[in-house]
Amino acid sequence: MLPELPVEDFVNGVAELVRADRRWVPEAEGEKSLYLRPFMFADEVFLGVRAAQRVTFSVIASPSGPYFAGGVKPVDIWVTDEYARAGIGGTGAAKCGGNYAASLIAQYEGYEHGCSQVLFIEAAGKDRLEELGGMNVFLVTDDGKLITPALTGTILDGITRSSILAVAADLGLTPVERRVGPDELFDGIANGTTVEAFSCGTAAVITPIGAFRSTNGEWKLPAGSEQTLAIRNAILDVQYGRAEDTRGWLQRVV
Ligand SMILES: Cc1ncc(COP(=O)(O)O)c(C=O)c1O
Repeated sequence: MLPELPVEDFVNGVAELVRADRRWVPEAEGEKSLYLRPFMFADEVFLGVRAAQRVTFSVIASPSGPYFAGGVKPVDIWVTDEYARAGIGGTGAAKCGGNYAASLIAQYEGYEHGCSQVLFIEAAGKDRLEELGGMNVFLVTDDGKLITPALTGTILDGITRSSILAVAADLGLTPVERRVGPDELFDGIANGTTVEAFSCGTAAVITPIGAFRSTNGEWKLPAGSEQTLAIRNAILDVQYGRAEDTRGWLQRVV
């Protein structure tokens, strides 16, 4: 119910902030970047329940380093089907503050089990993987498929997710968007057909997953993450201008 900001205003707002803050853009070494966070919030004097009639659009920025404290080392992921971050027909596909609020109890449960993020399973049917609290998820199989849960309205359609699907074929992988059951995930790791898994998002770029853990056990992935690191490099090479931007993804600001 928030008003839709014209694309031009959005892009100009972001570009103006980058121009103003250009001295804060870090050097590329160590994969540092200027993290941009555009957002909108209701901004009026009113107490009650209705859609906002006045909103403020802001962009903030901060120099940032790697998302996970351990850098590109594999992270362990807590799997929950007890808690849900989004429900069918709800706000899961939107980047909305309430989704993060709903994900936090599971996130803290994950920390208690030594995990950095939580993988949510669709809560009503408990029969398909969705995404992590703040990232999408991919699996790599031994026959060269790059699989990610299909968008169902409960999953954020992340730009990193779609960029990875776009470059997959260049790296000899077959991109697949479909329903992935939790048993398929665990059995695939146990029988060796799922060889790699990774999380992805603007801030985390691509981070290999070392193991999935749940109240039922632990499923460890083999060390190496070769395909994951190849995809990671392919995306970063475009972002840092080391590879040709054949898809028109880059926009020079300053
Ligand atoms: C819930 C959720 N899923 C996925 C992502 C990744 O999206 P993107 O690649 O657009 O950063 C984010 C990023 O903030 C997120 O919050």
